Amino acid sequence: MDKKRVFSGIQASGNLHLGNYLGAIRNWVKMQNQYHNYFCVVDLHTVTVPQDPSVLRTNIREVAGLLFAAGIEEEDSVVFIQSHVRAHSELAWLLNCITPMGWLHRMTQFKEKSEQQKEEVSVGLFDYPVLQAADILLYDTHLVPVGEDQKQHVELCRDIAQRFNYRYGDVFVLPDAYIPPIGGRVMGLVNPEKKMSKSEEKRDDSIFLLDTPDQIRSKVKKATTDSLREIRFDEKRYGINNLLTVYQLLTGKEPAEIENHFTGKSYKDLKEQLAETVIETLQPLQERYRELTGEDGYLDDMLARGAERAEAHAENKLQQVYNKIGLR
Ligand code: TYM
Repeated sequence: MDKKRVFSGIQASGNLHLGNYLGAIRNWVKMQNQYHNYFCVVDLHTVTVPQDPSVLRTNIREVAGLLFAAGIEEEDSVVFIQSHVRAHSELAWLLNCITPMGWLHRMTQFKEKSEQQKEEVSVGLFDYPVLQAADILLYDTHLVPVGEDQKQHVELCRDIAQRFNYRYGDVFVLPDAYIPPIGGRVMGLVNPEKKMSKSEEKRDDSIFLLDTPDQIRSKVKKATTDSLREIRFDEKRYGINNLLTVYQLLTGKEPAEIENHFTGKSYKDLKEQLAETVIETLQPLQERYRELTGEDGYLDDMLARGAERAEAHAENKLQQVYNKIGLR
């Protein structure tokens, strides 16, 4: 039987963090041999907010390198850079022409991001979810493994696909989001009421995948807790709950076992053990990252192969769309 197809994307804004890893990348790795996978570094999404060209160039390669270092394999998965496959921009334009503005006005992520930028907000940032829909629909995607914050975008993609199919006949597969039961929203360390993010200003909130052991220890040490002195899973106690959830995700232990293990121990013990667990998890990933980026041309060759494989599928789909619309 033919395997179903998975597509997911990640921005090239650098600073990949534990939230990206636990909410998305780790699941991509775990699921990859059950599906045909496309994993994309979405650099065209990244330029919806201002970027320094040389930093961007470095970040694109860093993110791609980290995906392979985390365990994405060329045999199961096509890894590529979005701007290397032109069909993404072209399909986004065509989908723009059937997407009502009202649908985009409802996107909560746009509301949040545009508040920070006020007058400077680009048309691209507003249109961001339509490009994301193009990404997904080009590959006849069945499943989109993402963190919780992307759920609304995947639903919008489904709506756009449905509208297109209704108007022009069945062209697009309707995708479903896959959000992990735990880890879909890893929270910040200092500010555990907000999700962990790539933001430079909130460096202490996030553990970045390339952080050194000392940086990790220092960040976990500074994490916000509470005054209850009791180590128990409780969604209302954001700080402790987040630390325990990350510990649970990394060790694979059951909540009851974890609570037992920490009975009578202090927050300091929890933080120390958590920090060491994070360090142990990231160490092999960091080593592989250094190996594969240390070898000249190795990563670029993999990405060139990825773009070629992605293009074969995407171009075929794009031609179908042009044809249906009457442009060919
Ligand atoms: P991005 O680059 O912000 O994040 C990449 C993935 O990481 C997940 N994530 C988190 N998961 C748990 N806890 C967190 N604190 C956390 N922060 C981020 C995100 O949900 C995402 O799965 N718009 C997308 C990129 C994109 C895309 C696509 C995704 C473009 N086209 C097509 C899927 C399909 C984004 O900005 O992800």
